[in-house]
Amino acid sequence: MNDVPTVYLDHAATTPMVEAAVEAMSTHLHDVGNPSSLHASGRRARRVVEEARERIAQALDCRPGEVVFTSGGTEADNLAVKGLYWSRRAGDPRRRRVLASAVEHHAVLDPLHWLVEHEEAELDLLPVDGAGRVDLAALEAAVDRDPATVSLLSVMWANNEVGTVQPVAEVVAIAAEHGIPVHTDAVQALGAVPLGFAASGVDAMTVTGHKVGGTARRRRPGGAARARGDRARPRRRPGARRAQRHPRRARDRRLRRRGRAGRQGAGRPGGPADAAARAPGRRRTPRRARRRPQRRPGRPVARQRALRLPPAARATRC
Ligand SMILES: Cc1ncc(COP(=O)(O)O)c(C=O)c1O
Repeated sequence: MNDVPTVYLDHAATTPMVEAAVEAMSTHLHDVGNPSSLHASGRRARRVVEEARERIAQALDCRPGEVVFTSGGTEADNLAVKGLYWSRRAGDPRRRRVLASAVEHHAVLDPLHWLVEHEEAELDLLPVDGAGRVDLAALEAAVDRDPATVSLLSVMWANNEVGTVQPVAEVVAIAAEHGIPVHTDAVQALGAVPLGFAASGVDAMTVTGHKVGGTARRRRPGGAARARGDRARPRRRPGARRAQRHPRRARDRRLRRRGRAGRQGAGRPGGPADAAARAPGRRRTPRRARRRPQRRPGRPVARQRALRLPPAARATRC
């Protein structure tokens, strides 16, 4: 009895890893380096991450900067619906209504219920027909009732239980009339039907690697592609993203700026006021102070050079 081999068939739940993924994973499991570190190991790790981001962007027809790595589909769905909701409400506090199909996966439904309980959201679950297709007339009626109060629409691309493919293009068209952002959970669509982020017109899309032969479920790398501004990242200041990813680099930049200001500052020995006082009418900034930033050991130019990716790894489409 124990000799009977198991045949794994539930590829909707998760898929066996493909050989290429096993190979890539096992190679990099031996690597050491924090992609945020500034030394060589860190830069090597960062290059691996950025090259992966670019390949994923090409496969999904989006920009590398629109790919956000998460731990899996559940986290990506949370990020997308909560991020869009907060961002839209920050723009206009009346936007409390969230419209979603009644057949969404719990990875979408749970954060939506959380928004109802904690963030004053009103959830409108849209009916589906006998095949599980969202009722577009009901969707349109729900939007038209008061478009200014709708914060987002979330309709999955393909259903995880019965496989129904939703009319995402029609959903996007209805939403676009009122400038309402659309999120789609495309976890079950990736690899099963053609999927393009840019062409779809959605504002956020969730996919996850373990459904398409990526790393095993216990590791669950996923990704949420997002676009059109920073709508899914409302709580960050513009420009703060880079700083957040490279806190030490941001701190270094601040220190450098301060150092430069200090060196050239009026009260500092050797600063312009001091030079001017010693030799009135002569150059205000001493030559040494002007050249110094370029001569300092390797920053920031050297750092940028080291992070530059080889031409082959750059995205060809954006
Ligand atoms: C439609 C759909 N969305 C989200 C998820 C959650 O993805 P993950 O298991 O990567 O968290 C699944 C997983 O089964 C799913 O089928």
